[in-house]
Amino acid sequence: MDRNLALDFVRATEAAAISSAFWVGKGNEKSADHAAVEAMRKAFSIIDMDGTIVIGEGERDEAPMLYIGEKVGSGKGMKLDIAIDPLEGTTITARGDPNAMSVFAAAPSGCLLNAPDTYMEKIAVGPKCKGAIDLDASVEENISAVAKKLDKDIQEVTAIILDRERHNVLIENLRKCGCRIRLIRDGDIAGALAPAIKESGIDILFGTGGAPEGVIAAVALKCLGGEIQGRLKYRNEEEKQRAKKMGINDLNKKLMMDDLVKNEEAMFAATGVTDGTILKGVRFTSHGAVTHSIVMRAKTKTVRFIEAHHRFEHFPDY
Ligand code: FBP
Repeated sequence: MDRNLALDFVRATEAAAISSAFWVGKGNEKSADHAAVEAMRKAFSIIDMDGTIVIGEGERDEAPMLYIGEKVGSGKGMKLDIAIDPLEGTTITARGDPNAMSVFAAAPSGCLLNAPDTYMEKIAVGPKCKGAIDLDASVEENISAVAKKLDKDIQEVTAIILDRERHNVLIENLRKCGCRIRLIRDGDIAGALAPAIKESGIDILFGTGGAPEGVIAAVALKCLGGEIQGRLKYRNEEEKQRAKKMGINDLNKKLMMDDLVKNEEAMFAATGVTDGTILKGVRFTSHGAVTHSIVMRAKTKTVRFIEAHHRFEHFPDY
């Protein structure tokens, strides 16, 4: 994959983040999401790639833009699988809470799991704990393994988990085992990345969140040298059928890194919308906006943070 594409991808997440940032705290999830989707799609139109959305805004009949199967880019250049979440954290944005971001991932065609819009049970850690976790092991076993790898006592290990009723037993088990817990309202892509970012203070992610978010997080963790394991969780028979239609034969398979992202050529980019663990949110100035992004390549494991100062009178209209 042409490494220069990375900057084009960041331009797309920056545009989406700025557009949705106008909606921070306004209580309007739909408008915030729509603004991000429209801006990202416009930015894609000038990128030299033959991209196909494999994870996007939904099926063609339910999403007018950036739907699964939509072709994006100029059509010139490499065939790519594109996985996006133009606004990860619509509720977060509507409330003005932390950790909303615009997210993009890409890999050569056929290399990303085409995950249906269902749930995924997840466990994720940073590079030091890679190889030590197991989705099928007990909470105690996983926490002990992480504590050992990080040379910490169990009471010093911090787990991050979405605050949902479905996690009541998991949370109870985590508490029993004595570790610390950070409950988050939303945003488990940021949650999955956090253990791979030293400054986050987070050591492990547990819990069930969106399956598309799981694949995007896997690209990011491949770039950061961490690990995520997942298993699809279906809400109904229709979701199972959809998964089969999307080529998933073993519906209950434990998905390892290479099932989620088959290739080392993957790239990841994200721009903060609201302030978060990894990224600062968009700041508006008298003549434009300042954005904070991360861009990474799995092959080289280079992690770049980009602070961009945008002047609206010169902002591209694509
Ligand atoms: P949105 O961007 O669609 O609002 O998703 C936010 C999110 O918290 C994800 O990070 C997470 O994977 C998913 O929702 C969890 O789903 P649910 O809110 O149904 O528990």
